[in-house]
Amino acid sequence: MAITYNEQERSFTLSNGRIQYVMKLFHDGYLGHMYFGKALKHFNIDRAFYQTEREGAPNPEALADARTFSLDALPQEYGLYGSGDYRIPALTAVLSNGTSTLDLRYQSHEIFKGKKGIAGLPAAFVNKEDEADTLEITLKEVGGELEVVLSYTIFNDVDVIVRSARIKNVGAGTVYLTKAASVSLDLPTAELDRVQLWGKHAFERQIDRTPLHPGIEIAASSRGATSHQHQNFLALCAHNADEFQGEVYACGLVWSGNFEAATEVDSFGNTRMVMGINDFDFKWELKAGDSFNTPEAVLVYTADGFNAMSQQFHAFVQNHLVRSKFRNELRPVLVNSWEAAYMDFTEDSIVDFAKDAVKLGAELIVLDDGWFGVRDKDNCSLGDWTIINKKKLPNDIKGLADRIHGLGCKFGLWVEPEMVSPDSELFRAHPDWALGVPNHKRYQQRNQYVLDLSRQDVRDYVVDSICKVLGSADIDYVKWDMNRNLTDIGSAAFPASQQQEIATRFVFGVYDIMERITQAFPNILFESCAGGGRRFDLGLIYYMPQVWTSDDTDEVIRQRIQYGTSLVFPPITMGCHVSACPNHQVGRTTPMLSRFVCAMSGNFGYEMSLGKLSPEEQEEVKGHIALYKELRSTIQLGKFYRLMSPFEGTQNETAWQFVSQDGSEVIFMYFKNLCLPQGNIRKVCLTGLDPDATYKVSKHMWTPSLAVNALDYLTNYNLEGDVFGGDELMHFGVNMDKVDRDFAAHLLVFKRQ
Ligand code: GLA
Repeated sequence: MAITYNEQERSFTLSNGRIQYVMKLFHDGYLGHMYFGKALKHFNIDRAFYQTEREGAPNPEALADARTFSLDALPQEYGLYGSGDYRIPALTAVLSNGTSTLDLRYQSHEIFKGKKGIAGLPAAFVNKEDEADTLEITLKEVGGELEVVLSYTIFNDVDVIVRSARIKNVGAGTVYLTKAASVSLDLPTAELDRVQLWGKHAFERQIDRTPLHPGIEIAASSRGATSHQHQNFLALCAHNADEFQGEVYACGLVWSGNFEAATEVDSFGNTRMVMGINDFDFKWELKAGDSFNTPEAVLVYTADGFNAMSQQFHAFVQNHLVRSKFRNELRPVLVNSWEAAYMDFTEDSIVDFAKDAVKLGAELIVLDDGWFGVRDKDNCSLGDWTIINKKKLPNDIKGLADRIHGLGCKFGLWVEPEMVSPDSELFRAHPDWALGVPNHKRYQQRNQYVLDLSRQDVRDYVVDSICKVLGSADIDYVKWDMNRNLTDIGSAAFPASQQQEIATRFVFGVYDIMERITQAFPNILFESCAGGGRRFDLGLIYYMPQVWTSDDTDEVIRQRIQYGTSLVFPPITMGCHVSACPNHQVGRTTPMLSRFVCAMSGNFGYEMSLGKLSPEEQEEVKGHIALYKELRSTIQLGKFYRLMSPFEGTQNETAWQFVSQDGSEVIFMYFKNLCLPQGNIRKVCLTGLDPDATYKVSKHMWTPSLAVNALDYLTNYNLEGDVFGGDELMHFGVNMDKVDRDFAAHLLVFKRQ
């Protein structure tokens, strides 16, 4: 049994043999947090919490040990405000009498096999009941109005604990929740680094690592989506942790809206981490009998560094979060029309575009934005999904889809269902369907408003119109976009007392329409997108198994974006495309091979007109697509390891590696962006291999030399046919030749002998 309750100790232990999580009840039911870490054979719970008097820390009345027991010092599971704990609370509320002091006590608990879902929210699942065990602990607020059920699931196949809370009004009056976090985790040390992912449009998920400081530090979004700016992920790690060793405690939220990821180092050298829906502008009305479910938090612990952390997240995402039938299916090589044509296309031009791509091996052609209403620019027609632009597509979507299928290729379409253009039939008919606030003129972003998805009628319209389009032709793939942040957050359908629910209800609405549309079309491969990676989160991945990682397709910036994204998400989920040069985002020109090696490190495709390339370049692309198809089962379904970080060092280098599920194939990629004179011969060590096996190089490709006085040494460097020991590759490494051009890349494929 992975979860036990020890009656004598009044303790709960969750363990899968590798990780362990321990809680204990104190006095009349305070729920303390005793341990989260490596599974232990010996653990004396009486020594876990060193009780001592703390000046300035309030004590409960009438306890024998009153002066040494304070909620301000007790490590807790779900901290509260008003009863002596001054650290960041997990839950705050205004009770029906207007006060906000909360104090929870244990009532009961239940342990069961498997895991429940959460109505209306994406949530981790088990494929078979024996994959996980769940503990639900019910706590009651001493004033009698609130009941809180804390839920914990531990998985057998991954070192993950999933937590959430359900808060119910069990009184007679109305209560307002002003904060309801998904997780609060107290760690008995402050000697930790805080690792977070920050960014901006076209520059998402950059890694930031700093030591924790005394006091509160927060990464958050109030943009209505997870955001380009901050990922709802946080890791705390030992100062000496790196990719290969050291303790890491990480947390991600199964949520796609406003969030807050906070840490607090208290004055006694402890750390509290709290994550959940952002309490900024959040107030949730709970009438008698109502409940509120928080999104789930995914906790990972490892003693083996960040690669190990990521592999736990990757396996968890693939096995317990991605629900699509495509989750373990190889993904097609995709060619998207956006950067090739933007909104300037016709049925014929897209068919020509497709013919050129199919000739080179493309398997899926995607028509991006611009096919509906009168949309030639981004200033109109969002919402008018059933009005096909006949000037561009005289034979509707079906006419185009049939012709693309006729080329022996799949067909995909772009949509942006959550939005409405001010200049659209939809907005003219229903001006109250956009989020808006009385007496305020709405703000636009990219010339568009956000639909009020808190409303059932709006959601029904969206589901109905999108389903009509998807049912009108043979569509194999959908790119679901979301191109702005929320402003003017108000709904004409809700009373004043519920307006601060709307940002959260919007996300519930997104989940509702995604649920209905993806269920109605289970055979469509959905890719989510939000101006690139604004909403690459553990919430949407439940509905859509892949994500357009970023609008930036420059190989150099992509190394950083893909490296950062891989902290949480497996390569199969990351849309990675080769685009034309000069690059449309940063104007950089990089070699085709280097662009390929970077894009092939994920869910591969092109974002350009392949027909416009020279015949030689087309041959090169043909070879690249064929090679990707050969290698994709290892890339998409194998294990991923980061080897050299683009965020560290002075040499502008990145390296990473894939190992197939059975260990027989190893793919290694190395990038060096800026050439230095008399560059180092860089030795890179691989990892995750069998030390006793030998590995033969079956493929070695590198970016050709550009140096004026280039000798032939690069051609001599070909490692194809060379045999390395697994131990040699892991401990001596492989030499990367002296690179003599900018934006160089090496690709090595090894086969175990
Ligand atoms: C967003 C996406 C792009 C493209 C455009 C279309 O910016 O990230 O890939 O689909 O919208 O308008």
